[in-house]
Amino acid sequence: MNRTRRLRKTEGIRRLVRENKLTVDDLIYPLFIEEGTDIEKEIVSMPGIFRFSLDRISKELDEVVDLNIPAVLLFGIPTQKDCEGTETWNDNGIMQQAVRFIKKNYPNLYVITDVCFCEYTDHGHCGIINNNDVDNDATLVNLAKQVISHAKAGVDMVAPSGMMDGTVETIREALDNSGYPNLPIMGYSVKYASAFYGPFRDAADSAPTFGDRRTYQMDPSNRLEGHREASFDDEAGVDILMVKPALSYLDIIRDLKEDFDRPIACYNVSGEYAMVKAAAEKGWIDGERVMMESLLSMKRAGADIIITYFAKEVAKLLKK
Ligand code: PBG
Repeated sequence: MNRTRRLRKTEGIRRLVRENKLTVDDLIYPLFIEEGTDIEKEIVSMPGIFRFSLDRISKELDEVVDLNIPAVLLFGIPTQKDCEGTETWNDNGIMQQAVRFIKKNYPNLYVITDVCFCEYTDHGHCGIINNNDVDNDATLVNLAKQVISHAKAGVDMVAPSGMMDGTVETIREALDNSGYPNLPIMGYSVKYASAFYGPFRDAADSAPTFGDRRTYQMDPSNRLEGHREASFDDEAGVDILMVKPALSYLDIIRDLKEDFDRPIACYNVSGEYAMVKAAAEKGWIDGERVMMESLLSMKRAGADIIITYFAKEVAKLLKK
């Protein structure tokens, strides 16, 4: 008889035949940095995740470095919003200050910035509004300004998340022409218009004041379109392809892993985090095991890199 249970008998043999492993090297930890002082505010729907002002963030960064997490993904929350999000390219804006602060005090921590406008526009959309919709090409002009400002601040990698067409071409060209040919781009290449971003929009004050993001983010029904999006970014020379959200889109992660020879990242988003935390709090699931199992499923699907709010918890568990 074919007995598959022979290789499941003890932890020793299970360890030997284990096909996929989660390690601390896979993880990117998102950080919300708010302009101002003395801010350390827990996000209600994301227990354990805080918004920090720069003067209060060192404790968090010390912990990230102690846990050997290789990278952070920064989101800025400015005090000033306007219709274009002009603060995004202010060389002294909150994101730029944060990058300079972290690179100066934690030079070995890899710093990635989320490049978008939704936290910086008074309407909450990811670009300039014209005729009740985001104007793609006008937004590209500002995207280039934003990315150069992040580059000047000393960021290690940029991650454009706004889903405008031509994003990677525009940013690559701007960086190459401004003396930053070696600055890599992680594209939010396949990003769906997802209800799983709910808690994030509270965390980053970025909910749209009218309409939704379905004219720029992808329809969750579509798989082939994900391949097309990834192809365009691949041709434009993106360095890392990302799929977002992660858990409901494992098929897309697998597609990209098989079809492209670039590193694949996935974003385990705010709603995925909140669901695990809420159910665990009620005692309905074992939160720690569900966390590990879902992150492992992303690796098994083909992700090389996982952006997750669980990064610190996972790193602590893996250390044991
Ligand atoms: C900004 C952005 C969003 C997320 C990352 N970058 C929100 C959105 O597109 O509405 C979501 C992250 C999360 O839910 O954890 N464009």
